[in-house]
Amino acid sequence: MTLKLGLIGHPIGHSLSPWIHAKFIDLAGLTGEYKLYEGDHTKLPEVIQNLKQSGVDGFNITVPYKQVIVDYLDNLDRDAEILGAVNTVVNENGKWKGYSTDGEGYVRSLMDPYPDLLNNGTSVLLLGAGGAARGIYRAIVQKGVKNIDIANRSLDKAEALLPLRTGSAKSKVMSFQEAEQYLHEYDLIIQTTSVGMKPNVEDQIIQLDNIRQNAVVSDIVYQPITTKLLQNAKEHGALIHHGHAMLLYQAQLAFEKWTGKHLDIAHMVDELEEKLR
Ligand code: ATR
Repeated sequence: MTLKLGLIGHPIGHSLSPWIHAKFIDLAGLTGEYKLYEGDHTKLPEVIQNLKQSGVDGFNITVPYKQVIVDYLDNLDRDAEILGAVNTVVNENGKWKGYSTDGEGYVRSLMDPYPDLLNNGTSVLLLGAGGAARGIYRAIVQKGVKNIDIANRSLDKAEALLPLRTGSAKSKVMSFQEAEQYLHEYDLIIQTTSVGMKPNVEDQIIQLDNIRQNAVVSDIVYQPITTKLLQNAKEHGALIHHGHAMLLYQAQLAFEKWTGKHLDIAHMVDELEEKLR
């Protein structure tokens, strides 16, 4: 079987997904292709039409089409429906079904180095409330975490995450100043905004003076690999988690949905880091 996969988005010229999925196809012992379908909004219907005709097995969707793609799908996974965003489409017997693998991919990337970190006693602080934060918030709650607070510049956007909760999880919404003040309460701090991303590498979303010694600081920014926030976390004796692994694990989950194959990809985290340096 020759897999037909791809990515739709704009701009995607620098995407690492073709490299990642070519490696996955090899690891799985399959043959196939992962093509880039780049285009602005006017080209989207044409791109979709071509993909339908080509009998594609599945594809990824990235910015700015993660919401609009829903209009072209036959079915939606429940999480994707609740999040209102799709990053992976699977051709299931001729019907296109949309999934969101970002949140669970993030959680897998975190559990690789910290397998016992997420449980019902873990206290989590999420920094940011954009698209990435939404997926991560829901996936963390689904791991049984009971306390996950959200700090964001605009509080109304943080409030909008609360309906994504499941079970008995509790969440407070706060400013970054309050987050700095209560930082010692958290076992895990997850940075999801673009603050600190190249070229603004000196920017840091919050100060970490009140952090606990053994807390974990995770930053989904991966350019640079080690952000100012992560450097500062190390200086305070905290543990760190780099964001680039999320790219691999969300792709691992997408590949599972397309092929049914679960690949061991832990060795690729360092390879990807080399590629990003
Ligand atoms: P993504 O899909 O990458 O999460 P997004 O949906 O645009 O991107 O969300 C960006 C997040 O980064 C938001 O939480 C945003 O804060 P607001 O909701 O207040 O806009 C946050 N963000 C971006 N630039 C920021 C800055 N300079 N300072 C603080 N927060 C910032």
